[in-house]
Amino acid sequence: MNLTTTSDPLHVNGQRLLAQLDALGAVGATLGGGVCRLAFTEEDRAGRALVTQWMRALGLSVRMDALGNVVGRRAGRDDTLAAVMTGSHIDTVRTGGRYDGNLGVLAGLEVVARLNELGRETLRPLEVAFFSNEEGARFPPDMMGSLAYVGDLTLAEANASTDVDGVTAGEACAAIGAVGDAAVPGPVPHAFVELHIEQGPILDAKELDIGVVTDVQGISWQRYTLTGVSNHAGTCPMAMRHDAGFVAAQIACEVRAMPPRYEGAMVGTVGFMQLSPNLVNVVPNKVSLTVDLRNVDADELRRAESDLEAFVQTAASAEGVTVQRERLARFEPHAFSPDIAALIRGHAHTLGLSQQELVSGAGHDAQIIGRRCPAGMIFVPSIDGVSHNVRERTHPHHLIAGADVLLRTLVSLADEPIAAQQESA
Ligand code: GLV
Ligand code: MN
Ligand code: MN
Repeated sequence: MNLTTTSDPLHVNGQRLLAQLDALGAVGATLGGGVCRLAFTEEDRAGRALVTQWMRALGLSVRMDALGNVVGRRAGRDDTLAAVMTGSHIDTVRTGGRYDGNLGVLAGLEVVARLNELGRETLRPLEVAFFSNEEGARFPPDMMGSLAYVGDLTLAEANASTDVDGVTAGEACAAIGAVGDAAVPGPVPHAFVELHIEQGPILDAKELDIGVVTDVQGISWQRYTLTGVSNHAGTCPMAMRHDAGFVAAQIACEVRAMPPRYEGAMVGTVGFMQLSPNLVNVVPNKVSLTVDLRNVDADELRRAESDLEAFVQTAASAEGVTVQRERLARFEPHAFSPDIAALIRGHAHTLGLSQQELVSGAGHDAQIIGRRCPAGMIFVPSIDGVSHNVRERTHPHHLIAGADVLLRTLVSLADEPIAAQQESA
């Protein structure tokens, strides 16, 4: 790999990028090197303030919409043309690492910083965005900000989402001063490219530098609320129980057991379970649990959803427990633009970086913006494939290599001349 010795000046300043990742990683830092910056919290507010300040220092004009999506814009030679956009998110899960999302946003800013230094203009404007609440870990659905940005979720729907304490996203967004006046839905870019850590084990295991993302798998999130009858753990005979905890445990086991029965590398997770009254000697009368199912194969994902639903109904009725199901998020698999993938491949090759095509297991803002314009993603390796964990790490040389590929891909797209057909569409 050759990151610094080429005479071509189109390289990022890696040390500056790493320093900004460290500075943003200090906001909401947790023990073990992680970050907790759940959407629309005080930590999120502080992270937003820092990144917005960096955007302004780069001379970007900054706009924020009513859901707190922030876009910094660098003018193009022809500022009437649709912008090339990059970016990601700066919210994290509660047990987040410092690169998930943040890398894509700060690498975008580093691209701008480098182009400014070089005095390098682009034909099209260049925009760096951070979309609100990508994680959905506090307010479902995930990718909430980008969904609203493209108009596939109304502001009213987004604002009405509640966290476990009953606070609405609208209230929390207002409380941190993230209600802006930019139009939502926002302007459709010419193209969108997102740099992200892989969050999986493939690149690291194969010792590759770059993943060229071709697709994102479909995501299905539901919340089940099971209602039974609480009773004394010592006196209530087993045959007379309506144990919501037992049904929840059966669902969790089924979600773990079902993936091998489907094509398309299914995965299934019960990541949240809350029992009530949650006491050692009381049969639980209520359980709230979530199920996350993912598959690249849209039909297989649908089959798994309906099989699970049948399983839940059967298990609940056998126990005399009632079930309420709420859909929290649903995304079809998404295929990225082959042209942008080819561009990424070409730039990685020129930079002497090893690469392979990948399907993303995680959801990303690029798949949402990609509903309206050609989009692509660049992955860099996650050490041991660990993510959504404070131990999430990526080698610095990979962070920098990914940013170099991003820089070149954005410049290629931003210098792309006007395709008459596309611009008039
Ligand atoms: C969100 O990033 C997800 O993939 O869960
Ligand atoms: Mn992410
Ligand atoms: Mn994430």
